[in-house]
Amino acid sequence: MGHTASDPATTAATASALDTALVLGTALAPVVARGVIIRRPRAVALAEKADADRLLVRTLQRLRSRYGTAPLRLAVPGRSVVLVLDDADVHRVLAGSPEPFATTTPEKRGALGHFQPHGVLISHGADRADRRRFNESALDTDRPLHHLAEPMVAVVREEAHALLAEADRTGVLDWDAFGKAWMRIVRRVALGDSARDDRELTELLARLRAAGNWSFAHPRRRDLREEFLQRLRQQLEKAEPGSLAAAAADAPTSPRTHPVEQVPQWLFAFDPAGLAAFRALALLAGHPAEQRAVADDLADRDPSRPHDLPLLRAAVLESVRLWPTTPAILRETTTTTRLGERVLPAKTLVVVLTPFFHRDDERLPYADRFAPAIWQDGSARESLSLVPFSAGPAVCPGQNLVLLLTSTLLAALLQHHEVALTSRPRLYPGRRIPGTLNPYGLRFSVARRPS
Ligand code: HEM
Repeated sequence: MGHTASDPATTAATASALDTALVLGTALAPVVARGVIIRRPRAVALAEKADADRLLVRTLQRLRSRYGTAPLRLAVPGRSVVLVLDDADVHRVLAGSPEPFATTTPEKRGALGHFQPHGVLISHGADRADRRRFNESALDTDRPLHHLAEPMVAVVREEAHALLAEADRTGVLDWDAFGKAWMRIVRRVALGDSARDDRELTELLARLRAAGNWSFAHPRRRDLREEFLQRLRQQLEKAEPGSLAAAAADAPTSPRTHPVEQVPQWLFAFDPAGLAAFRALALLAGHPAEQRAVADDLADRDPSRPHDLPLLRAAVLESVRLWPTTPAILRETTTTTRLGERVLPAKTLVVVLTPFFHRDDERLPYADRFAPAIWQDGSARESLSLVPFSAGPAVCPGQNLVLLLTSTLLAALLQHHEVALTSRPRLYPGRRIPGTLNPYGLRFSVARRPS
C-alpha cells in the first residue's frame, strides 16, 4: 500500500506535478526573481503590480485545503523538498535548528559563499556555536538597548536631521534620500564615523551580493571577495569607539570564529532593515491615529537618550510581518527526522514561506490590516508562525539592534513632523493592505507639526 496524506508518522504526501509547478511558479520564482541576497528594484516593482505575495498566499491556501496541513513534498526531481503548511510545524522546525534542522543548505552556501564562506548562517556544529556566540555578543542579541545605544542614537539623530532638513526644503521624502541617509547610518553604526562616506565598500559588497543572487550559477569572484574582505578587515581593525566594530573587538573569538566574515551579513542585513523602516513610515502615514499616538508618546521623552519605543517597534514589526524581508526560511534535515505526523529523509530541504503564515486570512483576523497592537498584547507571540526575524536558537541575532535603530530613526522623523503618502498605492484604515509594496516607489509629503 502506498502512503497517503492521512497515514500517521509516514513519509510526506507529494504534491502533483501541476501543483508543484504552481508553487514554484507563483511562490518560489517571484521570491527568487526579486533577489534573495540583494533586491532587484525593477523586479520588486513588477511584483507589486502582480500583487505577488497575495498570489503566494492563495496558492498555499489551496494546497492546504487539497492536501492537509502536514508537510507537503514537492515533486522536484533530484532533491527531497517539503513545504511547511502548519504553524505548529513552523515552530518545530525553528525550535529544532540547527539539529536536526540545519540552517546551512547547499542553496545558501551557494549564495553566501560568494562573500562570507565562514558566516554563521552557513555554519554547523562547533563552528556555528562559536560564531553564534561572537554574533550575539557583538550585537547584544538579548538586550532591547544595545550597550552602545547612546552613540548609536546620536548617529541616527544626526543623519535624520540632515534628511529632515532636505525634506523641509523640498517638502518631499523619497527612497533616494531616505536610502542614502540609512546607508550612512549603517556604515557609521557598523564600522565607525570614518566609514560614513565609504560608498565604495557598500558598492563592492553589492557586486558580490548580485553574484550571490545567482547562487552556484554564478562563477566565484575571488579577487573581488579578497579586495572586499581586506578593506573590511582594515576598517574593523580601527575598532572605532561606539561602533559595532568596537563591540566586535571585545567579543569572544577563537581560531574558528573568522570575525571579519561575520560582518558582511551585518552590512547586508541592514538593507532590508532600511526598507522595513521606510515601509513602516508608509503604514504610519496611512494610519493617522497611530501616527498621532506615536507623536504623543514621543512628546514627553528626551530625544537624545536611547529609548525602548514600543509603538514604533511594533510598527516596524508590522512592516516585516506584512512584507517579510526574508520571505523564505530554509532548513535541511541532518538525519531522518520526524516533523509532526511525517518522517522526512535526511537532506530534505524544508521550506517555510513566511508571507503565507503572516497573511493567512483563513486563520488570522488581522491578516491584511495594520495591527501593531498584536506585538504588544501577546497575540503575535501566541501565534507560532509570525516569524519575520525567524525564531528559536538561530533567530536573527540582530533583531533588537534593528528595532532600536529603526524606531529611533522613525522617532526623529515623526517627533516634530507629520508625513503623508503621496505615491500609490494609498494605504488607509479599512483598506486591505496590498500583498506586496514596492518601497522604492514610496513618496511622502513632510510638514512640520504645529506646536
Ligand atoms: C529587517 C531587518 C532584518 C530581518 C527581518 C532579519 C531577519 C532574519 C532572519 C529571518 C534570519 C534567519 C534566516 C535563516 O535562518 O535562514 C536572520 C538571520 C540572521 N540575521 Fe537578521 N534580519 C534583519 C537584520 C539583521 C541585521 C541588521 C543584522 C546584523 C547587524 C542581522 C544579523 C543576522 C545574523 C548574523 C543571522 C544569522 C543567524 C544564525 O544563523 O544563527 N540581521 N535574520
